[in-house]
Amino acid sequence: MTIKKIIEKRVSVRTFDPSRKLDTDVVEELKKSIRNASTPFGDGFTIEFKKFDLKGPQTPSTYGVISGAGWYLLMGIRDDEMASLAAGYGMEKVVLTATELGLGTCWMALTFKGSDFTKGSEMRADQPLRIISPVGYAANKRKMLESITRMTLGSAKRKPMDYLFSEGEFGNPVKKDNKFYDALAMMRLAPSAKNTQPWRALVQGSDVWFYYEKKTDVSVLDLGIGLCHFDLTLKADGLEGIWDRSVDAPDKQGYIPMVKFSLKDCH
Ligand SMILES: Cc1cc2nc3c(=O)[nH]c(=O)nc-3n(C[C@H](O)[C@H](O)[C@H](O)COP(=O)(O)O)c2cc1C
Repeated sequence: MTIKKIIEKRVSVRTFDPSRKLDTDVVEELKKSIRNASTPFGDGFTIEFKKFDLKGPQTPSTYGVISGAGWYLLMGIRDDEMASLAAGYGMEKVVLTATELGLGTCWMALTFKGSDFTKGSEMRADQPLRIISPVGYAANKRKMLESITRMTLGSAKRKPMDYLFSEGEFGNPVKKDNKFYDALAMMRLAPSAKNTQPWRALVQGSDVWFYYEKKTDVSVLDLGIGLCHFDLTLKADGLEGIWDRSVDAPDKQGYIPMVKFSLKDCH
């Protein structure tokens, strides 16, 4: 499956089929993708993949949001911006692998009881648990609570390309024949906390400046997720580049510059 097809297929899943277990080779494949979750932004995060007993007293609480999932990804993140950006990128790679394997996932930063998930786990003291995601096969029908959540958040909708991304200067749409258009279109499909879509970008020639709008406590992490979609799409199109901190980014009020991407051999 192409990366674009995988990105288009991914959707948050909160209702799982408890009768469908994960085969050992599927579990191994996911563990491998965790080991390969390197990022252009360094590290500062740790992902664990753990099975919980759905019937036993150890069933962790997601306040009823998730049903039927036994396996969870748990991510601890160091408390700094670059680690959050890297964590978003790294874990989304694992999420996309799960999607390719036909599994459902749901990034969660809020609706889970952390102490239930860390019980018996060895999270690093300097990387506290911030994110979890169930992993399993989606049930045939969503529970009512999931349908209401999706409707309330407008989960199936995204802001228009022209609102999120600009070319030349802020406010100018990125033209369809721009070499970054497809990668930005894939970034737009990324999941984000409360579907806030805080990613912004300005294309200037072979450079792309990336910003975020502070919408929630995890907006930087959301940007990292979007950058994963952007970077993997470009790579699949054979385009490689260099990532840098945005020290000289053009200013835009309300937009916080994070990183700059420069295509190789285009200067
Ligand atoms: C960092 C992050 C945190 C999230 N936290 C929660 C959460 O606590 N509970 C929840 O039900 N969904 C959570 N979501 C899922 C979003 O609501 C979902 O991605 C968004 O509505 C878009 O829907 P989609 O993923 O189906 O495209 C989170 C997503 C991200 C990226």
